[in-house]
Amino acid sequence: MSLKVVILAAGKGTRMRSQLPKVLQPLAQKPLLQHVIDTAECLNSKSIITVIGHGADSVKSRVKGEHLSFVMQEQQLGTGHAVAQTASHISDNDTVLILYGDVPLTSLETLKDLLTLVDDTHPLALLTINLEDSSGYGRIVRNNHFQVEAIVEEKDANPDQKAIKEVNTGIMAVHGGHLKLWLSSLSSDNAQGEYYLTDIIEMCVHAGFEVHTTTPKTELEVLGVNNKAQLQDLERRYQLQQAERLMVEGATVIDASRLDIRGKLSIGQDVTIDVNVVFEGDVTLGDNVTIGANCIIKNSVIANNTTISAFSHLEEATIAENCVVGPYARLRPGTELMAEAKIGNFVETKKAKIGKGSKVNHLSYVGDTIMGNDCNIGAGTITCNYDGVNKHLTQIGDQVFIGSDTQLVAPVSIGSGATVGAGSTITKDVPMNELTLSRSKQLTIKGWVKPTKRV
Ligand code: UD1
Ligand code: MG
Repeated sequence: MSLKVVILAAGKGTRMRSQLPKVLQPLAQKPLLQHVIDTAECLNSKSIITVIGHGADSVKSRVKGEHLSFVMQEQQLGTGHAVAQTASHISDNDTVLILYGDVPLTSLETLKDLLTLVDDTHPLALLTINLEDSSGYGRIVRNNHFQVEAIVEEKDANPDQKAIKEVNTGIMAVHGGHLKLWLSSLSSDNAQGEYYLTDIIEMCVHAGFEVHTTTPKTELEVLGVNNKAQLQDLERRYQLQQAERLMVEGATVIDASRLDIRGKLSIGQDVTIDVNVVFEGDVTLGDNVTIGANCIIKNSVIANNTTISAFSHLEEATIAENCVVGPYARLRPGTELMAEAKIGNFVETKKAKIGKGSKVNHLSYVGDTIMGNDCNIGAGTITCNYDGVNKHLTQIGDQVFIGSDTQLVAPVSIGSGATVGAGSTITKDVPMNELTLSRSKQLTIKGWVKPTKRV
């Protein structure tokens, strides 16, 4: 028996009022549908078939998956019609798991639980949930023995059925052979004139099978998205869930409602994260790392005992242990700090290797640079790495002292132990262990008269 996953994603999502198809709307910076695909990829399935329709080309090009394929549903005639489009890809002895492209947060455990309910004598299992407000959903109708009898859509339900709190999440697992048989006998004779997938439940019961159900751990797992308000509500709940996970792992999160993880964050012990921090892509924080308020950290690795102070922005940076960064630092791609390095306020770095214990403390730009250990780069120092056409390298040895407001015009190399006088424009290589400066000598013009305003 092999597993096929079918994801329904053909709908337009009119209420999003957006050019972007609903299933491509972002949750934590990732398309809703991609969340579903990523979870499905973790199941033991060789085939994930996504049914697309509205915005098919952009959906195809914007999501990816190892086992992903697409099937077109030209006209959206209902959920049953959508699944029927995949029939030729389904074998009689497959188990088919049906997911929704706009229900992004179902957990792997819940799906695995559901799949265990399907066997030779139970060809259909449903994921249901009890909701205080069940309006809009298909209701689960059970008999006196609590056995599922049917799903009734809201628009077809009588007042008694409308009062039922247990609803269809839409997610189900079905034996392939039975699914194809039942889909072929669906009709659109109902209030919405659609081919309802949910009608197969009654068919299953009529065929003499009992329908088993399971329920997710949280409502969040089955929440769908129809408009921007629901999208932001889901975003906040999802972010809160991630903050809670971090706290379970031992992180000190100053305010769980003011943290955003748009990707994957791995943490060591005793990490502290202040308010309004955004993590993007893959970020790793070592033990005792502290992140100050209002930082944005993307695709970076930060080693033990390092502090990133408030309002710093890091992208594709690698920071070794015991470093101090910020406040107000911008570390651009290719920045590498060795242990105990310091990058201070209003410093921008790019493709820059900063050696062990070296300091760039104030108002500097260091780009395309390889710097040795224990250097001190004075305030306002700039590596002039760009000649308008090409980028050039600045090489700085160990224990170099660069005076404030110096320009290092690359390509240029500063020997170890060198001192460069403040205010210099360095265009030629600087020798080791000497004082080099390029500014003119200070003059005082005695008796100089200030200009007066012309009348
Ligand atoms: C469906 C269920 C309902 C359940 C609810 C959960 C049916 C008939 N009803 O209702 O019992 O409580 O989901 O949210 O199944 N889609 C297609 N092609 C179509 C129609 C829909 O791909 O022709 C996709 C949509 O893009 C969406 C999903 O299927 O992702 C569900 O469709 P939707 O119209 O939202 O179904 P509901 O009326 O909400
Ligand atoms: Mg819906």
